[in-house]
Amino acid sequence: MEVPFRHIRNDFPILQEKVYGKELIYLDNAATTQKPKVVVEAIEQGYYKTNANIHRGVHYLSMRATEAHESARACVARFLNASDPAEIVFTRGTTEAINLVASSFGEAFCNEGDVILCSEMEHHSNIVPWQLLCQRKKLQLKVIPILDNGDLDRQALRAMLTSEVRLLAITHVSNVLGTINPVKEIIRLAHEHNIAVLIDGAQAVPHVKVDVLDLDADFYAFSGHKMYGPAGIGVLYGKRKWLDQMPPYQGGGEMIAQVHFSGSTWNELPYKFEAGTPDFIGSTALAKAIEYVEHLDMDAIARYETDLMHYATDALLQLGDVRIFGTSVHKSAVISFQLGNIHPFDVGTLLDRMGLALRTGHHCAQPLMDRFGIEGTIRASFAVYNVPEEVDVLITALKRIRTMF
Ligand code: ALA
Repeated sequence: MEVPFRHIRNDFPILQEKVYGKELIYLDNAATTQKPKVVVEAIEQGYYKTNANIHRGVHYLSMRATEAHESARACVARFLNASDPAEIVFTRGTTEAINLVASSFGEAFCNEGDVILCSEMEHHSNIVPWQLLCQRKKLQLKVIPILDNGDLDRQALRAMLTSEVRLLAITHVSNVLGTINPVKEIIRLAHEHNIAVLIDGAQAVPHVKVDVLDLDADFYAFSGHKMYGPAGIGVLYGKRKWLDQMPPYQGGGEMIAQVHFSGSTWNELPYKFEAGTPDFIGSTALAKAIEYVEHLDMDAIARYETDLMHYATDALLQLGDVRIFGTSVHKSAVISFQLGNIHPFDVGTLLDRMGLALRTGHHCAQPLMDRFGIEGTIRASFAVYNVPEEVDVLITALKRIRTMF
């Protein structure tokens, strides 16, 4: 297969590291991606050259830092094709973005007896915030089932879109199955019933082009660290029509217009949702990560990663006793599997000793494990810098492990 991105491995110094004296093979990209030099340098330069608190100072450094933070916001807006940078709220990550919507949308628009919908393939971060909201406001959380191949059960979805549903929270790409959900169609169907839709984009944004206007998403959340950016910074895109009506999520500096003991008023968007000093260095580094993937071309990334996923899937299936969870034809480069009857934890531990980093366990998706009647899987998740030779090493390692049991 063609490997158009081999040269970029030099941009990621960690890929040259050795673990236990072996070449590192990093296949845990759904958990977090490695960082290119431009991202790490942006963090270093931010702290060395323009570090000052933003939106507060009249002095030079504060103004430079504010400009960098706001131009990062504009960069994210362009990347997602949002119509207005004010619809981009910086958060700590996807989890905080979803908690923000659950808390604040829930407060404004949900009442006892209402329903929130999610799916069986959600990450815990797109389940638990809704469970908390349901407890607080006496709502019901209903779950759209999936099919055996890991596709969403669309017939069930249609039947569940009723007038009691206030919001549908669903992942764009499953972190376990790799399924790419047809979110544009799902949003269209939900909107026919006036249901708002939140998309968890954590596993999508590094791998497929996202256009929130074309999707017509009400909310779209993602994390910096899963797309070559730093940890601790993420994004909530929200349509102004919702954000304007939603109460603040947290109180503190910057989110206010006026504070008096007789009462306080709120700042304009997006600052109403950004209490306290934000990660203004992280936002700048995230913008660098965005520019980095844009330069590589999102469509080319998607094509290459799909080829690599097919290459790995074929090689795994040739082993004979591999069971893959998630076989949708619309799939991102994530492969969850079990090797014979060997416990995933044992496989992961042995792979680690051979220099291979893969995640094992329930992948923060225990209800999905329940759906398949398993405790966990081994997961290989790919990024643009992975190459087929790494898959070959994985296959050789799995063959070796098989002989040990
Ligand atoms: N959500 C991350 C994963 O799936 C941590 O591994």
